[in-house]
Amino acid sequence: MSQPVDLFKKLTAHCKEYGFIYQSSEIYDGLSAVYDYGPYGVLLKNNIKEYWWKSMVQMHENIVGLDAAIFMHPLTWKASGHVDAFNDPLVDNKDSKRRYRADQLIEGAIEKFQEKAEKEVEKAKKRFGDSFDEKLYRETNPRVVEYLKKATDTNDRMNEALRNGDMAGLGALIAELEIADPDTGSRNWTDVRMFNLMFNTQLGNIAGEEGKLYLRPETAQGIFVNFLNVQKTTRQKLPFGIAQIGKAFRNEIVARQFIFRMREFEQMEMQFFIKPGTQQEWYDYWKQARLKWHLALGTDAGKLRFHDHENLAHYADAAVDIQFEFPFGFRELEGIHSRTDFDLSEHQKLSNKKLQYFDPESNENYVPYVIETSIGCDRMFLAMMGNALVEEAVGENSDGEGNTRDVLKLHPALSPLKFAVMPLKRNEQGLVTKAKHIFNELKLHFPGLYDDTGSIGKLYRRQDAVGTPFCITVDFDTLENDTVTIRERDSMAQQRVSISALEGMIRKEVDMSRLFKG
Ligand code: GAP
Repeated sequence: MSQPVDLFKKLTAHCKEYGFIYQSSEIYDGLSAVYDYGPYGVLLKNNIKEYWWKSMVQMHENIVGLDAAIFMHPLTWKASGHVDAFNDPLVDNKDSKRRYRADQLIEGAIEKFQEKAEKEVEKAKKRFGDSFDEKLYRETNPRVVEYLKKATDTNDRMNEALRNGDMAGLGALIAELEIADPDTGSRNWTDVRMFNLMFNTQLGNIAGEEGKLYLRPETAQGIFVNFLNVQKTTRQKLPFGIAQIGKAFRNEIVARQFIFRMREFEQMEMQFFIKPGTQQEWYDYWKQARLKWHLALGTDAGKLRFHDHENLAHYADAAVDIQFEFPFGFRELEGIHSRTDFDLSEHQKLSNKKLQYFDPESNENYVPYVIETSIGCDRMFLAMMGNALVEEAVGENSDGEGNTRDVLKLHPALSPLKFAVMPLKRNEQGLVTKAKHIFNELKLHFPGLYDDTGSIGKLYRRQDAVGTPFCITVDFDTLENDTVTIRERDSMAQQRVSISALEGMIRKEVDMSRLFKG
């Protein structure tokens, strides 16, 4: 697959064609930034969640699980700061009537300056060949220096305006940089305004502000308000963590790029409660632990990087993103935040209930500090699909099937199906009965499929496209000696094995415990 943009288009089309993701309410022309997971999508998503859950809860004696409700007392969101500070700066184009995030428009302009500088460097590289000193060129070529300076200055000014809540400053930058509506080219902008991202609804029997409920914008607050319940009922000692997977909702202004930025999405969050003063040590620990979690799936290390936050959220004293190289560039996949004692302290104040820990070692009570790891399940799904989908040249097969294949090279532990069984000929009753028997035995252990709806070549391609690691073919020799052909997805290598060996062979590759060893 050549161009990243093509890859992204291909990826979204593939997700629909093979039953991974559908637009929500498609028959009514869809609901923007809301998606449904199809039969293969839900299996892959569940595997991602299982991998995360096991790595947190099963693999750590000091991390326990929780499933808190989506609705919470409205004061929760006052205490957490979301009512007052969970805002994005938005700007409307008066001609196109489209709404944008002001900071994202400015970031687009910064990227353009950087691209211009890179183009100059590339041109010079070609012109000077082996004698080219790239470092010197970047530091001394007037055009490159000017573009990079413009990028840095704009970034600094934008960050300062964001930090100070200076909406007029952001508007001034948009005007100065002559930023146009990306869709229509119009520069006719409104003032920049703050926009709260929480959805709200009304409790049935209470009118007005008092009955105002929010759909949670993060799962974390359900953990904070249950901190003492969990600590007391599980008798955990610090440091310990609470993990949760659940839906979150944000009224995103710019909700594009498929499932990257959705209005309803799922988070996998873990709050790790620690003694104040130890936050740097645990922040470093979780940074490395989370990176390892990603790498264990076989993701190329070059596709993952840390990115420190320049503008810290209202609750954090340090924050870093694990960014992944999506088809549209490096973007946030996961956040690791040092949240201090902000949340527990604020909940103490508003609820008038103590949320403190008695430390038996130091004989003192204190509000614990928190390190949070937070990853979007849907974003992880997009990262894994983008990483796995490959178009490969292959020789024409014996059934005359085409000479390329789309193959989803997912880690077998994440693959929606683990095996497919197919009879060589669907009209031969003996083969069909045997193949169904093998399928019925294997489905006791793994999700799989029996398929006799096409030629073997066609069935292989279909399983490649949904990432099934093993295809098992039943032929006439099977009836003689209880052996089958097993074909491995990535190498397409085939081997003859006895039926009794199948379960062990598949288990060895798909078992999630492989990901935790080492
Ligand atoms: N509790 C901290 C928190 O919510 P965040 O950085 O706003 O922090 C954490 O979100 C993760 O949730 C992100 O790294 C991303 O993977 C995911 N996420 C956030 N907003 C999202 C959206 N609109 N659509 C899909 N995933 C989103």
